[in-house]
Amino acid sequence: MEAKTKSIKRTFGKHNGNELEYVLDVLDTEGANVKLSPFTERFESAFAECIGSRYAIAHNSGTSTLHTSLAALGVGFGDEVISPAQTVIMNSFVTLFQNAIPVYADLDPDTFNLDPKDVERKITKNTKAIIAVHMHGLCADMDPIMKVARKHGIPVIEDSAQCVLGTYKERIAGSIGDIASFSFETKKHLSTGEGGMVVTNSEEYATRIRRMAFNGYKTLQAGHGLRQVLPDEFQDPDYKRHDTLGLNYRMNEITAAIGLAQLERVRTVVSRRQEVARLFLEALDGCDWIIPQYVPEGYENSYWTFAARYQGDEKYGISWKDFYRRLKENGGDGFYGGLSVAYEEIVMVDLPFLNRYPESMRDEIKSKLHYEKGICPIAEKLQPQMMQFKTNYRNLDEAKKQAQLLKKTIQLVDKG
Ligand SMILES: Cc1ncc(COP(=O)(O)O)c(C=O)c1O
Repeated sequence: MEAKTKSIKRTFGKHNGNELEYVLDVLDTEGANVKLSPFTERFESAFAECIGSRYAIAHNSGTSTLHTSLAALGVGFGDEVISPAQTVIMNSFVTLFQNAIPVYADLDPDTFNLDPKDVERKITKNTKAIIAVHMHGLCADMDPIMKVARKHGIPVIEDSAQCVLGTYKERIAGSIGDIASFSFETKKHLSTGEGGMVVTNSEEYATRIRRMAFNGYKTLQAGHGLRQVLPDEFQDPDYKRHDTLGLNYRMNEITAAIGLAQLERVRTVVSRRQEVARLFLEALDGCDWIIPQYVPEGYENSYWTFAARYQGDEKYGISWKDFYRRLKENGGDGFYGGLSVAYEEIVMVDLPFLNRYPESMRDEIKSKLHYEKGICPIAEKLQPQMMQFKTNYRNLDEAKKQAQLLKKTIQLVDKG
């Protein structure tokens, strides 16, 4: 049967750059070359250059990147890791998988990002790492976070899964902390289906991360992944391969081929989201009860989502859900609610994983994982008010229509 190769020609498709060509290159490559991972190496070096870091290590997700990052920092039993109260649960999960304790810092009510003062308040002698998450596409306030971290000798991981090409005082997201993590999951700025990248300037961290992400092979180095060992060497029964505890978190060549092609168009992809966000900002012009995420002077928001704070219940007695229903009835796409405050998630309340710990320690661990209501009051207040509008419209006419529908729904509410 004759093979059919479909080209990707969708006008608004996300993968209509060099993705298909590169994937075909991979499929067309003899096994020996695939083993050398040329696309993974190209993607890594292009990504490192994009962020301005010395090393980039490709992973299979933006969760595994966080896991290897924490492990590289030596986070382990009895340690504490600070992350924002409102973020994805993965920040807590990787901490728990390292047998460490998640500690939550509150948010700034305007930027919806970490409050550096609360980070400092939450530091104890056990704090081993801080994960600063750049929520919705906007950088966290990194200068004071780094200052407090340096003062206490604590390394900082930037979780930049939602922030690609976002900038903070002329520095690009991912270039400020000790290690930074990115995700290429389907809905992210750059998508490869699943995937992630760690960047760092530290050779030591990069080597540890690479080895942990690839089953602990001793030949892996900070700056490169698979390198063929001479057959004479490894065809020897005395040859020892593994010097590090590791898992298989590596990116495959097909994913890297797509990632490289995505990265070639990163500016276009990010600008499109920023353009969509501008449309939503215009729609909110003059509205004092839906307050968009505040972008301080000197920041560029990469707008993974267009986040805003809903205050229509305070102003008009119209609940979040009621406003959502009205927008949908007017033909709008709707919007997402804010992620649960991490310590209010079912898993963090029920602690079904406690049996990971020896029985004699469970009570102590349980008390450390008990989070009282009120420990992060801003996040708790903000969470039910959050609105997240999608920005990944590739057809701008559709985005304009959605922004108009939002404006119309606001005007109808204002008119009573
Ligand atoms: C801030 C943040 N961190 C980490 C992740 C995890 O990334 P992934 O889904 O690629 O594992 C995500 C994505 O959902 C995210 O938004």
